[in-house]
Amino acid sequence: MQIKIEADQLWNELDKLATFSDTPAPSVTRILFTDNDVKARDYFKSLAREAGFEVREDPIGNIFVRFSGSEKNLPAVGTGSHCDAVPYAGRYDGTVGVFAGLEALRALKKSGFSPKRPLEVVFFTSEEPTRFGLGCIGSRLMSGAMDLNRLGQLRDKDGKSVDEARKSAGYDGDLTQVKLPEKYYDYFVELHIEQGPVLEREKKQIGAVTAIAAPASFRIQITGEGGHAGGVLMPARRDALVPCAILTQELERLARESSSPDSVGTVGVVKVHPGAINSIPANVTMEMDIRDTQLKTRDEIVEKILAKARQLEKERNVKMEIETINSDPPAISNETILGSIEASCTETSLSHMRLVSRAYHDSLFMARIAPMGMIFIPSRGGVSHRADEFSSKEEIAQGAEILARTMARLSLQA
Ligand code: GLV
Ligand code: MN
Ligand code: MN
Repeated sequence: MQIKIEADQLWNELDKLATFSDTPAPSVTRILFTDNDVKARDYFKSLAREAGFEVREDPIGNIFVRFSGSEKNLPAVGTGSHCDAVPYAGRYDGTVGVFAGLEALRALKKSGFSPKRPLEVVFFTSEEPTRFGLGCIGSRLMSGAMDLNRLGQLRDKDGKSVDEARKSAGYDGDLTQVKLPEKYYDYFVELHIEQGPVLEREKKQIGAVTAIAAPASFRIQITGEGGHAGGVLMPARRDALVPCAILTQELERLARESSSPDSVGTVGVVKVHPGAINSIPANVTMEMDIRDTQLKTRDEIVEKILAKARQLEKERNVKMEIETINSDPPAISNETILGSIEASCTETSLSHMRLVSRAYHDSLFMARIAPMGMIFIPSRGGVSHRADEFSSKEEIAQGAEILARTMARLSLQA
């Protein structure tokens, strides 16, 4: 099949998308339902309509772009990713999967390809946990992995609910409609940058992802007692920050010493109250992220770190309120999809290898309702969630081509 990916056009679109940012270039910060998120959404929808595709949005803001062929009522082959960006991020995380997804559909249409199963690109709402503390809000709801009670409990730093935030971005309607009907997708395949060093190190152009590591995250509110940094002598202190520091170090030790090389633990948020150099910390909120490809080793670390928190509560005479934000199982890719990715690489003479995804993606939740697979392209230096994140124009175009070919194959699959 002849497919021509418009590499320059796709690159220029990603260039323009990167201008919708709350922080200066080269960084990108795009938080759910802010003005820049809405601008990114409008830009994507206008390109999809220009290309002649049907566009629909659901009440939480997931955007669906569809290319139907001969059998409109068959379950679709889905792709897609996210365009929200963590603070001071780069410009490729998620965005490549959304905009190259659109380019894959455009290229297939231009080539004269007629899909059997419809092809669909999804712009998922809030894969990043930045605003509401929980990642993959759109895909969790679409797959039924989260119920509306839980959604209703989420608040941003200003106390706003998801419902208030979505309405301010123009999204309304019955949220029960977000969950997809049974058998909506026959296959789901997401294109993403690797966000790790493996493809670059192994000199491979394409990665076929075999599994997505299991993520868990926790919020711990530590309450001690504040006071004057000069006036309160050490034996009388109930500093809330010191147990936070000990827990952070303990998490690092547990992840480093784990029997699994894939164990990782991070404390990425610490808020100290009152936050003055001459006041003893009275309250601390810390958020930790723990992941592994093996659920068993991840859960062992979780158990140990929470036990350590309980021990510190007693030893340090502070209160620890522990909230599980999420604790998700890993996802395993589907062999038919992996085979289609690999056949597409062979067809185009691109080098490829199998690897796991240590980052999570909306595909973690799509895997609950459809056979799932992912395509990775190299990330320079393995860097991500940083302004210097980089994948080249050529690598992005190669990813788009493999995505287009994989979707075409899956669309025609018996
Ligand atoms: C997604 O960005 C993740 O944290 O893996
Ligand atoms: Mn990310
Ligand atoms: Mn991402």
